[in-house]
Amino acid sequence: MRIAMFSTKPYDRRSFEAVNAGHDILYLEPRLAPETAPLAAGAEAVCVFVNDDVSARVLQVLHAGGTRLVLLRCAGFNNVDLKEAERLGLRVARVPAYSPHAVAEFTIGLLLSLVRGIHRAYQRTRDGNFALEGLLGFDLHGRTAGVIGTGRIGVLVARALAAGFGCRVLAYDIHPDPELQALGVIYTDPRSIAAESDIITLHCPLTPETHHIIRAETLALAKPGLVLVNTSRGGLIDAEAAIEALKTGRLGGLAIDVYEQEADVFFEDLSNEILTDDLLARLLTFPNVLVTGHQAFFTRDALGAIATTTLNNAILIESGRPLGASDVPAPRGP
Ligand code: NAI
Repeated sequence: MRIAMFSTKPYDRRSFEAVNAGHDILYLEPRLAPETAPLAAGAEAVCVFVNDDVSARVLQVLHAGGTRLVLLRCAGFNNVDLKEAERLGLRVARVPAYSPHAVAEFTIGLLLSLVRGIHRAYQRTRDGNFALEGLLGFDLHGRTAGVIGTGRIGVLVARALAAGFGCRVLAYDIHPDPELQALGVIYTDPRSIAAESDIITLHCPLTPETHHIIRAETLALAKPGLVLVNTSRGGLIDAEAAIEALKTGRLGGLAIDVYEQEADVFFEDLSNEILTDDLLARLLTFPNVLVTGHQAFFTRDALGAIATTTLNNAILIESGRPLGASDVPAPRGP
């Protein structure tokens, strides 16, 4: 099968070539967008990542060029117009669980770094500054942590916080997990989580219901000094509201691996450019904000699993065999 792979980085090419057994993969650096979609003409499949534009307009161009399959090499599918894909008869497959551990472990890493100022200590000591002033943190043990979304990733984070660190864990999910409840995790509503938590970590998908689940009203309910971590999707947080809450101290720390407007910035080296995103620029000025560039998935294990599952999905579809149920993105998620 000829596959046009968009947003390709050298590490994508290496991981796919390591497992590719016979597909004709065209590695393209540009992001998929209306202007770049014609590059896929003649390819039966396109392979896309989190910030590729798979809107109705793009799907129409792909379809006209002969594409019949969209292979997502990620779990989230908020960037795909599934209804239009269905209307055009385009199949869509994803990689539902390449390594939830990669994301969960990174989330805990961000949380610890933020709460204990490890990111700042790294810079200070390199500059010969061994002072502790400004690095005072707090124990996670005994604190209340709110986990929003307890699917594959959230469940691991909730378990680590409850069983590993001894936090009191509150959770919100439209499908509560009985195993977490058995561990003492208490399911409640988002407002109670906002009001009672010292830490909130986001692991639900981005949908119309969850868009800006953290916004001015939510932050107004929070205890002063709330620490917020987002490794899910940028659109879950209203960044302007977060900035206001950081200015007043209502938000005591923010760690984000994702950002609503990340498509224009993340995955690129812009160190020689002027940053034109004023919200992101403002966020980067706060000492208690830690930003990483959509890196949580980025482990050798995850890249290997992404390549294997993506190409396996192509093989299953090519041979007319059914995909695993969760490999097919459903409009409301699994
Ligand atoms: P999952 O599908 O296993 O779990 C999502 C959970 O959210 C499910 O339990 C579902 O019931 C719940 N949910 C759905 N709608 C909800 C709503 N309206 N309110 C509350 N809960 C809701 O997904 P998984 O694998 O745990 O991934 C979570 C998110 O993490 C993905 O959607 C993706 O956006 C993000 N992600 C980020 C990565 C990164 O590198 N930063 C890598 C992989 C995933």
